[in-house]
Amino acid sequence: MKPNTIALLSFLIAVKAASILFKGGTIIAFNKQTQGLQVIRDGSVLVEDDRITGVYDSTTPNQIPPRTEIIDISGKILTPGFIDTHRHGWQTAFKTMASNTTLLEFFGRYSSFVAPFFWNASDVYDSQLAGLYEALNAGVTTSLDHATSTWSKEAAEAGLRACIDSGARVFYGFSFANISGVITVEQLLPIYRQMAAKPALKNSLVSLGIAYDGWGPNPNVAEIDKIMDLATELNASVITTHSLQGPWGFTNSPEDIHALSYLNISLPIIFSHASFLTPLGASLLRSTNQFISITPESEMHYGQTHPFSHSIQDQSSLGIDTHITFSSDILTQARIWLQQTRYDLYLPLLSQNKIPGTNPMSVEQAFLLATRNGALALRRGNDLGGIFIGAKADLVIWDGESPGMLGWVDPVAAVILHANVGDIEGVVVDGKWVKRGGKLTGKGYGDARKKFLRSARRLQGIWKGMEVPRVVGGVFNGNEVVDVGRVDVLRGEGDGYGEIYL
Ligand SMILES: *[C@@H]1O[C@H](CO)[C@@H](O)[C@H](O)[C@H]1NC(C)=O
Ligand SMILES: *[C@@H]1O[C@H](CO)[C@@H](O)[C@H](O)[C@H]1NC(C)=O
Ligand SMILES: *[C@@H]1O[C@H](CO)[C@@H](O)[C@H](O)[C@H]1NC(C)=O
Ligand SMILES: *[C@@H]1O[C@H](CO)[C@@H](O)[C@H](O)[C@H]1NC(C)=O
Ligand SMILES: *[C@@H]1O[C@H](CO)[C@@H](O)[C@H](O)[C@H]1NC(C)=O
Ligand SMILES: [Zn+2]
Repeated sequence: MKPNTIALLSFLIAVKAASILFKGGTIIAFNKQTQGLQVIRDGSVLVEDDRITGVYDSTTPNQIPPRTEIIDISGKILTPGFIDTHRHGWQTAFKTMASNTTLLEFFGRYSSFVAPFFWNASDVYDSQLAGLYEALNAGVTTSLDHATSTWSKEAAEAGLRACIDSGARVFYGFSFANISGVITVEQLLPIYRQMAAKPALKNSLVSLGIAYDGWGPNPNVAEIDKIMDLATELNASVITTHSLQGPWGFTNSPEDIHALSYLNISLPIIFSHASFLTPLGASLLRSTNQFISITPESEMHYGQTHPFSHSIQDQSSLGIDTHITFSSDILTQARIWLQQTRYDLYLPLLSQNKIPGTNPMSVEQAFLLATRNGALALRRGNDLGGIFIGAKADLVIWDGESPGMLGWVDPVAAVILHANVGDIEGVVVDGKWVKRGGKLTGKGYGDARKKFLRSARRLQGIWKGMEVPRVVGGVFNGNEVVDVGRVDVLRGEGDGYGEIYL
């Protein structure tokens, strides 16, 4: 046989072999009729190519394609992959450097306003890729990246290439921002156009979207029109913005975008944090079917807070934000958010001397926020965020018999409250394994780790020597920046705050 005949044959075999049967386990499926979860015990799921083509309530479905790979999932739990609707994936190299940072310090030290002076395109690539491997390892199969690393054509393309190479499903929200001394929105417009034309994007799991934080309070309408014209012409997959109302004054609110006539459009718009969302903003989200991304841990860490988010959960998804400063898996975010919501609803009652007699939020709701609602936020409810026939095969296999999970009856509670990332045995994206036997399968993973560490160590060295900006005593958007004080775990004299061990 000629070599290319062999290549063709093995290609055909590879195509034929692209079906997998997950056999005989507990499946947390999505029921389109009830729009709720459906737990199937001793069930099976068939995947052909990129899709789920069968969901069975039996361990031995008949009629499976020849040469289907059979994966025994008895004792295990099969769930859809998690969806993260807010992340800045390029920042992985800063991991643990900013464990006690504030938002203002973050802007002045770890953001895209500083990084371009020290990072080159290959740093962006390595860091973005390492961050996506981390997400895949944690069962996050889809993410919306608010990609602030678009400070040059090279950096923007490197970030995009890392997304494509990772095997994850990524909505790459190309950030249009002026970075003083580096690049302007005007200069970014043609770069976006060139990126949208990249052949590598076609048939990849990555789509190009737009991130923009200039909607309000003082919008530049001409600039917004140019960006939105591009979004329409080049079919942007999503638009996202940082929305911080209240004292933060960085509004980018539903009201702001509605006033510019861009809210009620066919494109999904995702408002990250939506701290201090107003009742009018909430009603606009409902009437235009746009979503927020609650990033529970970020909003606690930095103090954006989320005082009203529990009352807009029907238009909410979950996100992570700066994965360098806290947990970077959506499972932890779902858990934190579930308990935060309970706390938020109990507290006002307790202050009136009333005792909670019911529990306001269920594990099913937390699970839906972490999966289904992310898909709805991206307007991909027809093929992402759940296990149902016709959905993309983005799946997570949980070891139901790990020490922490052993003994479960309710699989949704088992995952949301008792599992951790270490219990994830396998992850499939678009019908392809990305984690198997508890290990990432990416061919380049070993080298990517080494390259990432080299780059990260160099950058961390620079950052260690960089002066920390002083923000207390200053003013942010008209409001005073104050000392918060410190708690103390050591009784007595001295500063019990301790060290940051860099
Ligand atoms: C980026 O910087 C590193 C460290 O100086 C260097 O090894 C690498 O070649 C540079 N890459 C590019 C694309 O400039
Ligand atoms: C970017 O800079 C231009 C020129 O100064 C300005 O008109 C525009 O409003 C800025 N855009 C954003 C999002 O800051
Ligand atoms: C955008 O989508 C429309 C309608 O689906 C299609 O006709 C057009 O070719 C797409 N344009 C680009 C640049 O992909
Ligand atoms: C958005 O459009 C839908 C359908 O056209 C309409 O029902 C709804 O009232 C609109 N909402 C706003 C806020 O304009
Ligand atoms: C973080 O901790 C270090 C070490 O204790 C301290 O110097 C620094 O001021 C802290 N940063 C903030 C923002 O509190
Ligand atoms: Zn963010």
